[in-house]
Amino acid sequence: MNLYIFLCMFAFFRCYVECRSKLPTFLKICRRTDPNLEECIKQAVHTLKPLLAHGIPEFDIPSCEPLYISEVVLDQGSGAVSVNSSYRDIKVYGPSQFTLKQVKINLERNRIRLKVHIPSLYLVSKYTMEGRILMMPIAGSGNCYGNYTNIDASVTIQGQKIKKDGEIYFNIKDFHVDFNIGHASIQLDNLFNGDKELGEAMNLFLNENWKNVANEIKPVLEDTIASIFKKFSNKIYHKYPLSVLLPK
Ligand SMILES: *[C@@H]1O[C@H](CO)[C@@H](O)[C@H](O)[C@H]1NC(C)=O
Ligand SMILES: *[C@@H]1O[C@H](CO)[C@@H](O)[C@H](O)[C@H]1NC(C)=O
Repeated sequence: MNLYIFLCMFAFFRCYVECRSKLPTFLKICRRTDPNLEECIKQAVHTLKPLLAHGIPEFDIPSCEPLYISEVVLDQGSGAVSVNSSYRDIKVYGPSQFTLKQVKINLERNRIRLKVHIPSLYLVSKYTMEGRILMMPIAGSGNCYGNYTNIDASVTIQGQKIKKDGEIYFNIKDFHVDFNIGHASIQLDNLFNGDKELGEAMNLFLNENWKNVANEIKPVLEDTIASIFKKFSNKIYHKYPLSVLLPK
């Protein structure tokens, strides 16, 4: 469920970029020659957290509290968990409480590594789902709710420098996400056409086995998060040259 962290991080990066070029006063500027560049970026993120939570409408930066995501589709073909599912109108509460625990930038190799921690997320959305989870058939559509605590994510971004109109831009080639959830509890309403007993039994089963379920869908989720974030980040990186994003 760390998708939400990354969409939130995306909002942050967008803010970082747009706020910098238009409103540099409320941003801590980091220079690539700064011997404490990584600490500077951590500080800049920290300063921005309250802004992120409320959003900045004049710059089209949405609120991260709650964070709204219109749709996520997760189709998991084979294995112990094979379900087609989609989630709409997703509201995520808690992402603005994230901490950037570590930033490592290798300018020469165009590589960025991040470690992010989120204490807890509360999620509400509409879902539709069909398939099998750990041998059990599952089907339903309705509201779903989830609590996720102690989320840790490691992100590795591999980029390259590209030249466009005489300026150097950053382009992300690979985006890799690895995450761990400390604990999850979920509630799917209206499973099996509203059959109360089957629905309750399934919710119980899912919560007892949340770790197995999470591990099964983790690779798909990580890839989904990574590709969304790669696309979003590149939109920014392709818009602003490196000399604006990270001046000397
Ligand atoms: C998921 O949908 C695809 C087609 O969209 C279908 O071939 C497949 O059988 C479905 N899988 C499950 C688990 O329902
Ligand atoms: C999530 O946590 C809230 C607050 O503790 C609780 O009211 C709600 O029932 C929980 N929902 C789920 C699905 O665990």
